[in-house]
Amino acid sequence: GFSQVGAESGWRTANTDSIKGEAAKRGIELKFADAQQQQENQIKAIRAFIAQGVDVIAFSPKVETGWEPVLKEVKAAGIPVVLTDRAVTVSDPSLYVTFIGSDCVEEGRRAGAWLAKKTGGKAVIAELVGTSGSSPAIDRKKGFAEVLAKNPGMKIVKSQSGDFTRAGGKQVMEAFLKSPDAKQLTALFAHNDDMALGAIQAIEEAGLKPGKDIVIVSIDGVKGAFEAMVAGKLNCTVECNPQIGPQLFDLIEKVAAGQKVPERVAVEEGVFDETQAKAELPNRKY
Ligand code: AHR
Repeated sequence: GFSQVGAESGWRTANTDSIKGEAAKRGIELKFADAQQQQENQIKAIRAFIAQGVDVIAFSPKVETGWEPVLKEVKAAGIPVVLTDRAVTVSDPSLYVTFIGSDCVEEGRRAGAWLAKKTGGKAVIAELVGTSGSSPAIDRKKGFAEVLAKNPGMKIVKSQSGDFTRAGGKQVMEAFLKSPDAKQLTALFAHNDDMALGAIQAIEEAGLKPGKDIVIVSIDGVKGAFEAMVAGKLNCTVECNPQIGPQLFDLIEKVAAGQKVPERVAVEEGVFDETQAKAELPNRKY
């Protein structure tokens, strides 16, 4: 049984395709539930998986907290849990077997380091935060803040959640740009590409040039971000690889067979900026 967060971004769609595709390739019966961005729906789906007697439950938790009761029910039913993409905070680490996903603190650090280099350590930054309480939003903010702590000329003056969606990114950026002190903004850090793409629209509608008047760095590495870089509207994307189906099912098969697996499995990722975008665009699969 797999409980997906929703379909909030290009990243998520690619992640779902990778998981469904890999299950089909291996002949694994996958019970897939889309929670439409609601934690309650994920909890309901997990309970349904218990009732159906699945062999393994995997899920990408919308937020970090609130999982302990349902995970205790899964444990009592003797079903192993594999977390994917997003982490949970629980007092009992035996409530899940393993976690496979990106190092989102490192992604935040990479975004910050790129911006520091690009701006010579001087930037007045607006931040579009991902879904409140989700591990990538918490971790990316943390990694980025580590870089700011070493660069006193860089500061975040506006920060708000755009919920990892394009519409959310556009709406929040519009509000940022309408504020009396908007003129001081020189940079944007968006926790994902979809929010950056929404913000680009807002910046253009405000009569400014995204990628020039406001330097933009975001995270994910979706095709749309590469197209925006080629068009000179986005400056850098830090890769967060959604195509983890093969690695996920390697783990699931081992867990189902009762084999020992590492507590955490990382995903390999890179950083791409405007100078590499044109050459890399044909290689992007999502
Ligand atoms: O959890 C991964 C994040 O969720 C991706 O960066 C974002 O695009 C998605 O919605």
